[in-house]
Amino acid sequence: MSYKINDTITWVGKIDWELRKFHGEEYSTHRGSSYNSYLIQDEKTVLIDTVWKPFAKEFIENLKKEIDLKKIDYIIANHAEIDHSGALPELMKEIPDTPIYCTANGIKSLKGHYHQDWNFVTVKTGDRLSLGSRELVFIEARLLHWPDSMFCYLTGDNILFSNDAFGQHYASERMYNDQVDQAELYQEAIKYYANILTPFSRLVEHKINEVVGMNVPVSMICPSHGIIWRDNPLQIVGKYLEWAKDYQEDQITIVYDTMWDSTRKMAEAIAEGIKSAGKGFQIKLYNASKTDKNDIITEVFKSKLVLLGSPTINKGILHSMAGMLEQMKGLAFKNKKAAAFGSYGWSGESVKLLTQGLEEAGFELAADGVRGLWNPDEASIHTCMAFGKRIAESI
Ligand code: FEO
Repeated sequence: MSYKINDTITWVGKIDWELRKFHGEEYSTHRGSSYNSYLIQDEKTVLIDTVWKPFAKEFIENLKKEIDLKKIDYIIANHAEIDHSGALPELMKEIPDTPIYCTANGIKSLKGHYHQDWNFVTVKTGDRLSLGSRELVFIEARLLHWPDSMFCYLTGDNILFSNDAFGQHYASERMYNDQVDQAELYQEAIKYYANILTPFSRLVEHKINEVVGMNVPVSMICPSHGIIWRDNPLQIVGKYLEWAKDYQEDQITIVYDTMWDSTRKMAEAIAEGIKSAGKGFQIKLYNASKTDKNDIITEVFKSKLVLLGSPTINKGILHSMAGMLEQMKGLAFKNKKAAAFGSYGWSGESVKLLTQGLEEAGFELAADGVRGLWNPDEASIHTCMAFGKRIAESI
């Protein structure tokens, strides 16, 4: 399958309808994904990125239907991660001398992955590659989200090839943002940002300002996953700027796990207390062992306050909550408040451990945590409700 974007640019990627997990098992992809590769045929012919390794042979066969591979003058590797570089080994068997343009860090990553000494050409921000009537302008995008990441901008057509940035894990045979369900599109875009780009928000803001400062028209943004932004393409840039500024909505998210329902009852009582404060917060409760972890992270991203709950087990916390804390620590959320709660029968360390984890993850403690002994009785339920009310009133 290929798709003409215009007379000179053809999408030659792969739509992966079946994908349900990405980065190993780390990222859920409920709506599949795509690996977008673009072929530009001006006086010179350029291939931008490839596809994930399992589709390498299919990609090459497909590409051969579009062009004699020997006519490809340049390959651009905007990013070395396997989902975009995975077909390079197969491709380079066919055209071993073709230059691969990438950043200095890109060479390190590609050599690290494939142990090949291909014909690499290092590019830096502002370097230009003439294709004839158009030029590709390179823009390093260090740590968005790998050290090697890079964008390139095509003059004439005014297209930004942004690689992972502005992408979504979203399989669709419809290529453009104006053709798909907007709620699905934005759900996947914010999930992508929350789970992948959050730690790099300062760099996102800086890079966007740098690109906007170039004062070039942008008629389309072509990311390496999901749909292409052609209708008001800067809408996603505006969203990224919003998300990069320690985004939050009027939402409180309660994430817990439970063994015999005591911690669940505490969670629900806390939610009732929050509601009784009458401040109109959207309150969402998730059992971490029954809910997709990346979906929970997306809700944490949207929250002003996060409450974590676990019973005590073997002097510790339940493993789903330990995993949740580990994710939250890595994503380095900013400007969010948090507190902990949990039931116990004897030693009762869970609230202390959750609180420590929240502090290590950079959350501001909104209150001391609340513990409930055994199955919460009426007094304990009232304590939880009062805790919820007090904490909602404080933010
Ligand atoms: Fe889509 Fe960072 O790879």
